[in-house]
Amino acid sequence: MSGFISRLERLATVDSTQRVVRERLEASEPEVVVVVADVQTAGRGRLGRSWQSPSGAALLVSVGLRPIWLGPRHAWRLPATVALAMLDAAEEVAGLREGELWLKWPNDLVATDREGRLLKLAGVLGETLPGPGGRLAGACIGIGVDVDWAATDFPPHLAASMTSLREVSAGRPVDREQLLQAWLDRLEPRYEALREGRFDAADWSRRQVTTGREVEVEAGGSLVCGLAEGVDPESGALLVRAEGDGSIVAVGSGDVTRCRLAPAGPSPRHPAAGSRPGDERGRAGGL
Ligand code: BTN
Repeated sequence: MSGFISRLERLATVDSTQRVVRERLEASEPEVVVVVADVQTAGRGRLGRSWQSPSGAALLVSVGLRPIWLGPRHAWRLPATVALAMLDAAEEVAGLREGELWLKWPNDLVATDREGRLLKLAGVLGETLPGPGGRLAGACIGIGVDVDWAATDFPPHLAASMTSLREVSAGRPVDREQLLQAWLDRLEPRYEALREGRFDAADWSRRQVTTGREVEVEAGGSLVCGLAEGVDPESGALLVRAEGDGSIVAVGSGDVTRCRLAPAGPSPRHPAAGSRPGDERGRAGGL
């Protein structure tokens, strides 16, 4: 175990790794606390949703951090950092080409199927512990990665929108332990950079599959529809050019429920968009 991690707990079954990590932080455990489970009985997703995975088929892990040096307005960079580290780790461990996996704003990991639809591979949940003077006392960032599910094992209501590393790597077995280690190896330098005030906004922005696409975003009870022009490196918001008046709407938190190539073609701000997948409906994740 590297000096980056103060405690790594492996649990067979737990309600939620998020709950355990929060308890460790509340008990004054120093960072970085890592909790991994084979099974969660009450896994939590973003926006109050649940998170389900069959036994032993997913990497279910939470990290407990003490980013007291991070301004609360940049707390969104923690789940983004976790997602970027996993994107790189997953591509390597599953033998995928760099850039084969994408982020769907804010931090879902997605791949594409043969028809070009976006399929969710992993979701990230960020929760913070408030400290004195409005600072962050701690953060619990959890990620669930579908590693070894066969398409036929997905619950029917998720089968059309989810995938696993095994599916995207054409059946190649992917080892959860290797993925965990590869992710921690990548998380350490990214987290240390964040501590020094450096967030790789360019990477986070470049890997957003939403950029240059027509999106529908459910945000705070209303629906924002328009062309996703990019993400704001300061606030982490999704920038959508609204249908109708053409104004730019900055969506701070929400759920991209539809994402398809813009009719006018690739966005000049995101040249790769023209070669990217076509149409998708699904779930999203983030702080
Ligand atoms: C989402 O996409 O809605 C976020 C899903 C986050 C799931 C992970 S699994 C490990 C950690 N423990 C939880 O209860 N949730 C996160």
